[in-house]
Amino acid sequence: MGKKKMTILDFKKYKEEGRKFTYVTAYDYTTASIVNESECEVILVGDSLAMIMLGYDSTVGVTMEDMIHHIKPVVKGAPDTFIVGDMPFGSYNVSIEQAISNGNRLLKETGCDCVKLEGGIEMAKTIEAMVKAGIPVMGHIGLTPQTATSLGGFKVQGSTPESARKIIEDAKALEAAGVFSIVLECVPSVVGKAVTEAVEVPILGIGAGPHVDCQVLVTQDLLGMYGDFKPKFVKQFAQIRKAMVDGLNAFHRETLSGEFPSKEYCFNKEVDIPKLY
Ligand code: KIV
Repeated sequence: MGKKKMTILDFKKYKEEGRKFTYVTAYDYTTASIVNESECEVILVGDSLAMIMLGYDSTVGVTMEDMIHHIKPVVKGAPDTFIVGDMPFGSYNVSIEQAISNGNRLLKETGCDCVKLEGGIEMAKTIEAMVKAGIPVMGHIGLTPQTATSLGGFKVQGSTPESARKIIEDAKALEAAGVFSIVLECVPSVVGKAVTEAVEVPILGIGAGPHVDCQVLVTQDLLGMYGDFKPKFVKQFAQIRKAMVDGLNAFHRETLSGEFPSKEYCFNKEVDIPKLY
């Protein structure tokens, strides 16, 4: 295993050096261990587990307990990969005290390396207090799935000069509040470029074009595993769903034909079976 785990300081260093990196999701031990074996540098245990793992329609129903349950095995499975724990909807929007308390919980109970939460200028005070309390925070602006309903649904953000300006202001406010990096989701490439140039912390883009510092994708999307929906910005680099269905059908076929299990898959020791029937 030749991978060296990234640190918080590496995020800014990579940007300064113009070194791109990648950021993918995992929600379980096996997937985390596969990502750990790859060259990908960062794992998000995202609240997208709502749709990908739990079959929900949105991320809103995910709880702190769900997140903790899924982050723990990922931390175990990926010791050489920087791990981000997503704060679920309702876990940081009540008060600054609530945000600090739940941020502490995610770090202490799971061993993840930082927390991520959604929101721009309106979250800056909360983030500043969390960072002052010692919690490393990654921001998330542009399309924010937890509040997508208020944004008019899962739509490209920053398509007008005013909304593009607001996203740049959000990024600057989060940087001033102390985040060490910012996820920027679903914006035109020119907005991705402008935001990347406007701040010193790295911009981790998902559907934000080629000019950002890091590319983010949901692992189950990029490997062609999740079948319900494919956003425009997702490139499928493998067809794992098809490979899994083909494998399951081969198991089914060989079971019915008697080809499986052949001798090599059986315990072939002879035993004198007492006549009990
Ligand atoms: O939960 C998630 O997967 C995310 C990504 C869309 C960045 O927040």
